[in-house]
Amino acid sequence: MKTFYVTTPIYYANAKPHIGSLYTTLAADILARFHRLCGDDVFFLTGLDEHSQKTIRVAKEKGKDPHQFLDELAVEWKRVWEMFDILPDRFIRTTEKDHHVAVRAFFNKLNTKGDIYKDTYKGWYCVDCEAFYEENDLVEKKCPIHKRAVEWIQEENYFFDSKKYKDRIIQHIKNHPNFIQPKSRKNEILSSLKDVKNRSISRAGSTWGIPFPGDDQHRFYVWFEALMNYFSGIGYGKDEKIFNTYWNREDAQVVQLVGKDIIWFHAIMWPAMLMSGGFQLPKQIFVNGFLTLDEEKISKSTGNVIDPVDLFEEYGSDPVRYFLFREIPYGQDGDFSRNKMRQRYEKDLANDLGNLVNRVVAMTKKYLNGKIPTGDFTKTTSELRIKVEKAHLAYDAELQKINFGNALQTIWGLVGRGNEYIEEQKPWELVRKENNNDLASVLWNLLELIRQIAHLSEPFMPQTSQKISAQLGIDTQIGTPFEKTRNWGQISQSKNVQDPKPLFPKKED
Ligand code: MSP
Repeated sequence: MKTFYVTTPIYYANAKPHIGSLYTTLAADILARFHRLCGDDVFFLTGLDEHSQKTIRVAKEKGKDPHQFLDELAVEWKRVWEMFDILPDRFIRTTEKDHHVAVRAFFNKLNTKGDIYKDTYKGWYCVDCEAFYEENDLVEKKCPIHKRAVEWIQEENYFFDSKKYKDRIIQHIKNHPNFIQPKSRKNEILSSLKDVKNRSISRAGSTWGIPFPGDDQHRFYVWFEALMNYFSGIGYGKDEKIFNTYWNREDAQVVQLVGKDIIWFHAIMWPAMLMSGGFQLPKQIFVNGFLTLDEEKISKSTGNVIDPVDLFEEYGSDPVRYFLFREIPYGQDGDFSRNKMRQRYEKDLANDLGNLVNRVVAMTKKYLNGKIPTGDFTKTTSELRIKVEKAHLAYDAELQKINFGNALQTIWGLVGRGNEYIEEQKPWELVRKENNNDLASVLWNLLELIRQIAHLSEPFMPQTSQKISAQLGIDTQIGTPFEKTRNWGQISQSKNVQDPKPLFPKKED
């Protein structure tokens, strides 16, 4: 069986989730659901990065003990993920003991290899990024991302020799065209690799963070240990069986989703750490753009935050899951706008999909007493069937490439065709004919089309998918592999449709 391991970055634990963090985590959830439906053995990891200096600052500002602060925050993050039907296999927190054990084990490998050394570090540091900047990276002496003052730091630190792996990383990127996606990011990384510098992996004088082995004065630099969450999350240092299943195999499919601001760490430092430790590299690092609101990055630090909970209260989970991946091509920057969200809700969801389902179910009720037509309609190779079979291929190919927008367009191609088909066939006229066979055939084909649309929609809109199936009188459980649901004609296994209920109720203004 193929395995599929998908990770999100672990989010800094200092505030509630915002729409930027929701975005990547939803993407991972959609991929995990899709691969499960394809029959893969999937592991989906997300979680919190709890050792940043900012966590301590915020906990202090709130007058809370850091661990209590983190525990409360973790509950809140998990609650929001549940709200949006995000179902990770593990929610990792870097203050967990497991993670510390894994970090020490991983570090030992690098140390034994002779890739760790001590030196003096000087540089401009942004606490929000938890990263050092070169003088010429700064914009008006401030952090280019957060536009906040940076701190001058000079201290004795431990370093990891990533430079040693520079040539191998370049070679790997060149030999594996899919390693960094989208393509445009690849050149960015190849150019940063030209003058890659070793970065420090410890911080002196801090009491927050994982103790540095053999030196009480130091803690691990938060980024260095945070990257290792991708290992501790699947049992490295504890349950190597799981680790060996999802990572440490030639054919292990590992996809890591990261934002464009943290690509350096994932496409240079992380591969260097993996090479030093003698591990496989992930199959792909997929870089997403930023969601902006009024062209500014949405983030806790810039203060222009859209609260996912507000969106949930207004729309529920599925419309948000749909909108983010239909509106903005994944991998590019995109502007979030409440207006566009409303338009897509009304047009794509309520009008196109909602009405299609509603009309077909209502006509089946009205014209056929709610009974799914019987008879072997599969023999008449209908045009809809051919369309659906083509759509399966296109949809799979798009999702394998992490092209969410195109996969959704493929589904909506079927939705649009369904609506046209109703207008062309005019069931309300067919019902007046003596021979009702045509009506039965038209409605059967439409019911089957909708059943197919429900299954294709499942990774994006699990609740809607279930609701459509329920209206069709089908009790397929969520997560039933495509292999079992895709063959044309399975609508005949259902006897009756249920009462039609609007999937996307009209919103008050
Ligand atoms: N803790 C580190 C990651 C460590 S992974 C080993 C971190 N955390 S973060 O909370 O600042 O950012 C996490 C992710 O959220 C990043 O991929 C970042 O790009 C993403 N986003 C934060 N704001 C965003 C938007 N406005 N839009 C899209 N994603 C953005 O970095």
